Amino acid sequence: MHYTAAQLKHPIFKIMQQAADELGVEAYAVGGFVRDLILERPSKDIDFVCVGSGIELATKAASIIDPKLHVSVFKNFGTAHFRWNDWDFEFVGARKESYQRDSRKPIVEEGTLEDDQNRRDFTINALAISMNAASYGKLVDPFNGVQDMEDKIIRTPLDPDITFSDDPLRMMRAIRFATQLGFTIHTDTLASIKKNAERISIISQERITDELNKIILARTPSIGFILLEETGLLKRILPEMQNLKGVENYEGKGHKDNFYHTLQVLDNITKTTNDLWLRWAAILHDIAKPPTKKFVPGEGWTFHGHEVLGSKWVPNIFRRLKLPLGNEMKFVRKMVYLHLRPIALTKEEISDSALRRLLFEAGDDIESLLMLCEADITSKNRDKVRRYLMKFEIVREKLKEVEEKDRVRNFQPPVSGELIMETFGIQPCKEVGIIKDEIKEAVLEGKIRNDYEEAYAMMLELGTKLGLQKKE
Ligand code: CTP
Repeated sequence: MHYTAAQLKHPIFKIMQQAADELGVEAYAVGGFVRDLILERPSKDIDFVCVGSGIELATKAASIIDPKLHVSVFKNFGTAHFRWNDWDFEFVGARKESYQRDSRKPIVEEGTLEDDQNRRDFTINALAISMNAASYGKLVDPFNGVQDMEDKIIRTPLDPDITFSDDPLRMMRAIRFATQLGFTIHTDTLASIKKNAERISIISQERITDELNKIILARTPSIGFILLEETGLLKRILPEMQNLKGVENYEGKGHKDNFYHTLQVLDNITKTTNDLWLRWAAILHDIAKPPTKKFVPGEGWTFHGHEVLGSKWVPNIFRRLKLPLGNEMKFVRKMVYLHLRPIALTKEEISDSALRRLLFEAGDDIESLLMLCEADITSKNRDKVRRYLMKFEIVREKLKEVEEKDRVRNFQPPVSGELIMETFGIQPCKEVGIIKDEIKEAVLEGKIRNDYEEAYAMMLELGTKLGLQKKE
């Protein structure tokens, strides 16, 4: 890990030097930016701390850049912010109490740089780089954060019980950074999370869910979930997932541990998509296995209906976690509901009608569903996995053929309700629905083609059967 002042390439740094020296205050770049600079990770925002007024420093720096540049000032919190060329700059005065960007607590007491660093969450986040001319570019690293980066360790600068009691969300942040960076949480820090896990209950759901989503969006999300489980946080934030853990044995037969299976599906899908919601679908696809579990003699362990029950749980879980309840939730619910269907298709002779039905129900999400199902194949037997994946290719091909032929993916009945009413001279009534449904069924079953002529003929036939007469 190597740091030199030459890495400070952004023009803001020279501007900060001028602003700080003109005001005669100490100023530093701190926190996540410094960490990412040393780890060579990209960033688009920089936090500056000064021993004095953050607001004055921000105003000064902005006026050097452009007197018209808008500075947002949050007086109660003693912070200020401006955006310049797509970068975000945040300014704060050094403080004695805990630093949390999203805290609503006003600042109480001003402090020195050292006070400020003491009150940050992890050693790797407590580094500062001086902006003043006399010490420009100097790294201030009181807790050996650089060494911890080299050793890939997450640890708190102070006694972890103090750091976590300042802000219990930091327990989740520790796990999030461990997951994102592939670092290990120091034993004392980890022990403190286990001890204090219950305190997560005082944190707002929005902040918790934000961290959870960052874990899910990491390259290997299972790392985070294993830590969440091990520390006792998972059972508090997502008890349904905790309940997937464990294996029951009956007559010498065990089922697979659905917690680890789910994590493997999640890691698998992470290799093929960056989409947060498809990753959520992977997390929740088997969520209702525990209450549907049964041992059936001769058959073994079964989980009949877990996809139906699981999909019913999705809205409640989303509501509780304050995840969006619109299209994102509906997508996840649909994925959970349909996740067994493509795999069922690989087991039987594939009929065109089964393919058409799946296309009709999945609509434009068919590709996501197939990705989820492929990720769901987690057998240890490599041959078995290969065989399944090959069969899947066949399902994919056949789906394509049926879609090209019948265009049922975004199926609209070839005759509309209006046309039915118009043809028979009737008002909206249940017969209209019956005719529409039967035509839809006939198309999906392949009895008629998805085409106007054939559907029109069928409509006339059905109308006659129902005692309706074509209007002349
Ligand atoms: N911080 C803290 N305690 C918190 C939140 C933040 O001590 N609960 C401090 C850390 O020093 C952190 C800095 O504030 O580096 C900025 O916080 P934030 O922007 O939330 O996180 P980053 O560390 O920048 O990481 P990322 O951008 O990946 O969220």
